[in-house]
Amino acid sequence: MPLFEIKGFEKSFGNTQVLKGIDFSMEKGQVLAIIGSSGSGKTTLLRCINFLETPDKGIMYLNGEKLCDAETDRKMTDAQIRKMRLHFGLVFQNFNLFPQYTAFENICLAPKLQIDKKAPDRKKKIAEIDEKAAKLLENVGLADKKGFYPCQLSGGQQQRVAIARALILEPDILCFDEPTSALDPELTTEVLNVLIALSKQNTTMIIVTHEMEFAAEIADEIIFMDKGVVAARGTPDYIFGKSGNERLESFVGTLSKQ
Ligand SMILES: Nc1ncnc2c1ncn2[C@@H]1O[C@H](COP(=O)(O)OP(=O)(O)OP(=O)(O)O)[C@@H](O)[C@H]1O
Ligand SMILES: [Mg+2]
Repeated sequence: MPLFEIKGFEKSFGNTQVLKGIDFSMEKGQVLAIIGSSGSGKTTLLRCINFLETPDKGIMYLNGEKLCDAETDRKMTDAQIRKMRLHFGLVFQNFNLFPQYTAFENICLAPKLQIDKKAPDRKKKIAEIDEKAAKLLENVGLADKKGFYPCQLSGGQQQRVAIARALILEPDILCFDEPTSALDPELTTEVLNVLIALSKQNTTMIIVTHEMEFAAEIADEIIFMDKGVVAARGTPDYIFGKSGNERLESFVGTLSKQ
């Protein structure tokens, strides 16, 4: 049984249909990379999966159970959406850290807000979060940057804080939208290495990326999106080989000439 499945995702902005019926499924521990040209709908798809955008149509299943159906769940409350969103983590292109908080505080903020103010074991829970955050900072190689503010960190370091911040909530699926596109090549490597380490720990991930070599290395499967549809799907060998899919070969060919 797949861990996660989406069926028939459609989304329009005004008269423009951006997602035209997207289906895919993935297993626990799998890494799915999404590639495709600019404007093909990759970010919109991730935003729909993370409840930042409401699809017009489409059903999501998690662990075989229906998580939501866009057509019948139109009137979800904010609390319901917040609860479902916890299944997913999203790391953005531009890190989006809170500038007024340190690296450590950025990581701890969301789980601390979830603790009931009147919980009798509140102190213990806070201590547990602090411990977990310290461990995550260490895992992303930033143990010595605990008290640093985002403006005191490089782009690669900020992105690693953003990854730790997503991981602390223990999402079922961690999504990345071009996590390295705002970074210099050397900083890109340090972020990609964190993602590769996560994949080795069987973290289930969906990664939108323009880094084709990285996609080939990390992904179990790759989806090629073109004009709002899944135009091809397969292993890296298939996607980057002679797939016989004209649009895909042209896209991959254009990139390799850059
Ligand atoms: N909030 C919005 N309102 C109107 N149109 C939007 C909105 N968000 C996205 N679009 C349009 O949807 C289309 C797909 O955008 P999307 O950001 O999903 O593409 P993408 O594949 O992520 O592209 P890129 O590789 O450049 O990041 C684009 O034509 C974009 O202009
Ligand atoms: Mg995008």
